[in-house]
Amino acid sequence: MLRNVARRQFSSTAFNPYKVTVLGAGGGIGQPLSLLLKLNHKVTDLRLFDLKGAKGVAADLSHIPTNSTVTGFTPESKESQAELAAALKDTEVVLIPAGVPRKPGMTRDDLFSINAGIVRDLATAVAKNAPNAAILVISNPVNSTVPIVAEVLKQNGVYNPKKLFGVTTLDVIRASRFISEIRNTDPTTERVSVVGGHSGITILPLISQTKHKSQIQGETLDKLVHRIQFGGDEVVQAKNGAGSATLSMAHAGARFANSVLAGLEGERDVIEPTFVDSPLYKDEGIDFFASPVTLGPQGVEKIHGIGQLSDKEEEMLAKCKETLKKSIEKGQSFITSN
Ligand code: NAI
Repeated sequence: MLRNVARRQFSSTAFNPYKVTVLGAGGGIGQPLSLLLKLNHKVTDLRLFDLKGAKGVAADLSHIPTNSTVTGFTPESKESQAELAAALKDTEVVLIPAGVPRKPGMTRDDLFSINAGIVRDLATAVAKNAPNAAILVISNPVNSTVPIVAEVLKQNGVYNPKKLFGVTTLDVIRASRFISEIRNTDPTTERVSVVGGHSGITILPLISQTKHKSQIQGETLDKLVHRIQFGGDEVVQAKNGAGSATLSMAHAGARFANSVLAGLEGERDVIEPTFVDSPLYKDEGIDFFASPVTLGPQGVEKIHGIGQLSDKEEEMLAKCKETLKKSIEKGQSFITSN
């Protein structure tokens, strides 16, 4: 057992030297996400940036005996960009959980007025300091913040659609968990494709494509779909003003980051649903869409279609597209018309 651990650590230090930066690392998601990244042997240089608290989190994590260095960066003054630039310099993967979370009664769209500006400014810094990095956007509303990042990168002449991802993994893990509760199965083996976007009715779980399609019907199906779409509200209400999902989101973000790193280092057949610049519905004016994506050395290797849908799912897809289009345009025009 001990020998296996030692061998694994040796081989990962030798072959997987990735620099990873977390922007918003002092927050509810940022802290546990940084912990999980510290435990990931693919990461050797972990940089944590936040307006507050990043140095403390970094000092704390730096005592964990894994093969990475951890450095915290906090701006010396409101205007200073030097720390952000240093946190980003030549990094390979950037995760962005910076921004405000929801309180009870809020939708993800209600966060736009604050988070849009935060994400714009951070994306500008990424464009300048790490133009080749894979960017994983967690800050909500993802349906708008991902288009914001794309427009900022375009304005800076460094947009690479293969390296920009909206993290929708939380919807995917919720779907596995909730379906296993209904069917009394092992959640770790449940696979549910969740496509569309990351907010309310734009979250489209394709239950008809699971092995449980004949057992989950009628009211059970409606309730399951609703729970996957609005599962975040359960957490927001239970936390009662203290924020939204942080721990399950950290797990989801770390899982997605690990898949991106696995793709970068050449592992085959790494597939994750994610919200990307997608050809699937571009002819309908929808520039971004979440569907299963094969991840590879250049980032996105292949965007898969969403397969056969039931009649009900087709109806949901039509509504999803309508809402998604507006959210994407809202993000795009935040940059192009300002
Ligand atoms: P939080 O408030 O606990 O942490 C946010 C952190 O961002 C704070 O430490 C804050 O200082 C930092 N921050 C704010 N502006 C910054 C800037 N300009 N540069 C660097 N850091 C900055 O919030 P929490 O719970 O961690 O949520 C963060 C975001 O993630 C929210 O927008 C939330 O809606 C979103 N989220 C996304 C999910 C997804 O599935 N994609 C799931 C859950 C939350």
